[in-house]
Order: sequence, then C-alpha cells, then structure tokens
Amino acid sequence: MSRECPDKSYSVVTIDEQQQGCLSDYSVRLGQQCSNKNTRRFYEESARMMQEILTLEQLRDIRAVLLDGGPAAVLLSHLPTEDFGSCFPSTGNRPAGLSFRSDALLYGVASIIGHPIGYSDEHSGDLVHEIANVSIGCPVYNSQHPDALNPHTDRSRYPEDLRPSVLLLLGMNNPEHLPTRFVLAGSVARSLSESVRENLFRARYEFGLPSGRFQGLRSILSSVGSGIEVTLPPEELPSDEESSSALAAFRSACIEQGEEVEVNAGKMLILSNSRSVHFRDRNESPERWLRRMYVTVRYQQLSRDGKVGLDDFVVA
Ligand SMILES: [Fe+2]
Repeated sequence: MSRECPDKSYSVVTIDEQQQGCLSDYSVRLGQQCSNKNTRRFYEESARMMQEILTLEQLRDIRAVLLDGGPAAVLLSHLPTEDFGSCFPSTGNRPAGLSFRSDALLYGVASIIGHPIGYSDEHSGDLVHEIANVSIGCPVYNSQHPDALNPHTDRSRYPEDLRPSVLLLLGMNNPEHLPTRFVLAGSVARSLSESVRENLFRARYEFGLPSGRFQGLRSILSSVGSGIEVTLPPEELPSDEESSSALAAFRSACIEQGEEVEVNAGKMLILSNSRSVHFRDRNESPERWLRRMYVTVRYQQLSRDGKVGLDDFVVA
C-alpha cells in the first residue's frame, strides 16, 4: 500500500498486489452469493470485505474526502477490474450477464463513507448507474450525452440535505482516455473578484424540485458548511447579463484551475459533491463506460425525517 500526496486537490490511495488479489477473490465470491435483489445483505457483505482487506490508514485516507479542508477527491487505484466481455450497456440498464464484482467494490467503498442513495427519477432508482453513451430516447436511463458538461454539483435542484454527499465513479472502459475534471468550488470562488463573488452568492433565481418541495430564491453558488456548492443546474442560465458574465467567469476559472483524472478500468474516483464541482469535455466515444454510485452521509437524518424510502428515494 502506498499513498501519494501530489500537490493537487486530490489524493491517491493505491491498492497493493496482495490486496488486489484478495479484493478480486472476495468480490467474485460476493457476486456469486448475493443477488442484487437483496441489496442490504450485499451492502453489508461488501462493507465487511473492505474492512477486512483495506488498512486503517487507507480507510482513513478515503474518508478524508468528507473533511472540511480535505481533498476534493480521492483516487483509488489498482482495483481488480471486471472482465465485462460483451456485456456493454446498450440501453442504460444494467447489462445482462455482468458479474457483481464492480457492484461489490462500489458498495464496499460507499460503506466506508456513508450509505448508497438513489433517486426514483434517475435510472429508475437503481443504486448503481451505468454512465455510457447509449442511444435511446428515455432520459431516465440516458445519463450521458455527448455535449461537454459545465462545472456542476450533482442533483443541485435538491436542497442540501437531499443531495448526494459523495459521488463514486468506477472506470469500466475508457479507451479514449477522456478525463473527468474537478476542482474545489471554494478555492475557485476565492480567486474571483469581490463583485463577481457577491453576484454569485445573491439569491435571485427560482428553480427547485420538480415536485415543488423546495421553494424560494436561490443563488448560483451557496455556502454549505465550510464548502461551496454550485446550486444552479448546469442546463440553466441566468437571465440577466451581469449574472451571466459572473457565471462565465466562475466556469472559466474552474476550467483553468481544475484537476483531471482519467477514470480508466481499475480506478475509482471518490468525489466530494459538497465542496467540489466536476465537469468534462465533449464525449462522443461510444465505448466509454463508468459505473456511478451516489453516497449520502445523512442517512440517519433522512431516515428519521421520513425522507428515505418514500416516493423519491430508494436506499440500500
Ligand atoms: Fe455530474
């Protein structure tokens, strides 16, 4: 095991050869023993796998993504890869015949951080999302389109407590090496002028949950704890010129200051959705395939408040 600390906003946790072999055997066994119909048991078994195989230092380094002042992301590298053969997603659904190795790795890492969470309006509430350039019309399944993605926070229409805390992106296939880009939103905001910052934090936009649960005016950026999130959905644009140019300044600073990682097979990017924004260039590759999971650290609170298990949420 080794941990690199490059002068970057992300850290790298490398799985050594022996751990890779253990994870490989264990995750295949879990895939054979559990079906995805029993997600709670699968989650618990995957959690046990990670606790048994990773060192305390690795577990701590992964959890650092949750810390105020922690890295924007942690890159887990040298994971065992999945031999997916011809099981490439063609519809956005889970490919038939795929083993459950990659699911076990995602659930296992999620358990180190919090709880997996899904949304019924995205991938039909699936906890593992296929991010591939599939050509079907249904937007529920098709989470990747070729256009470049602006710097954004996932599920930004939702109030803070309902947004995922962390995103897991597991590389399955990325032959054209298209990188995923990200940056701490706070450090970008600090690099902007006072007037631009003031504009970005002014609450003046009406957008929110489709169900209308969230009401009131919102700003383009918002402070959450010691971090900063982008609350303006990436597909929306401010109507006035001043805000548009403030947003353009923020986006170009993100692009200028952002880090990039190629999430290839055997790598998992663990990305803070509370403190960082992520983005990518245009992608027309029909072969790029990542598997994604959303993780919440607010499971107990959501459960207590009755927000988990109701219409919008499916949780392991
Ligand atoms: Fe995203």
